[in-house]
Amino acid sequence: MRLFTAFELPDAVRAELRRLQADMRHLPFRRWQSPATLHVTLHFLSELAPDMLEGLEAALSEGCRGFGDFRLALADLGGFPSLRRPRTLWVGLGGDRDRLAALEARLRPRMQALGIPLEDRPYRPHITLARDPTARTRIPEIDVPAIAWQARELVLFKSTLQAGGAIHTPLARFPLA
Ligand code: 2AM
Repeated sequence: MRLFTAFELPDAVRAELRRLQADMRHLPFRRWQSPATLHVTLHFLSELAPDMLEGLEAALSEGCRGFGDFRLALADLGGFPSLRRPRTLWVGLGGDRDRLAALEARLRPRMQALGIPLEDRPYRPHITLARDPTARTRIPEIDVPAIAWQARELVLFKSTLQAGGAIHTPLARFPLA
């Protein structure tokens, strides 16, 4: 199973991001992320054997419980590898980034203790809007409204790869309260 953990976005935030995508639709990105599936990934777990799911869910539940809600907000546009040559176009995160980083650091060793391999790269929170493998799209100056919301629960998703793009299915929810 291809799994990842992520924060879903409130409808108002998705609507704002949909507007942002609409403003950039003329840009030659190959694939635009559907507004319904926009999210903030916390960990990408790659392929996991189904018999590890129970232990993973227990670890995530224990790690999230009592951590507390925190504030997230939209920040500036960015790109991987860079905004000048974006293979991935994304919106960065503002708000309580320290709490987000703290949750990432709290859950990471719990998953590694289960033998789940995680990426070594530093965590760069973002919401992917579009992809263009050629990385030739030039991005004009665009203001992102600093709309904010409370992150209240982490979601474990299964990602199923399909020709038209991945399908994300929520498997379990972990409240932070
Ligand atoms: P991305 O949108 O920046 O590509 C499901 O694929 C989620 O896991 C996406 O949010 C994706 O981030 C993230 N992810 C992180 N590392 C990934 C990888 N190596 N392959 C696919 N998705 C990855």
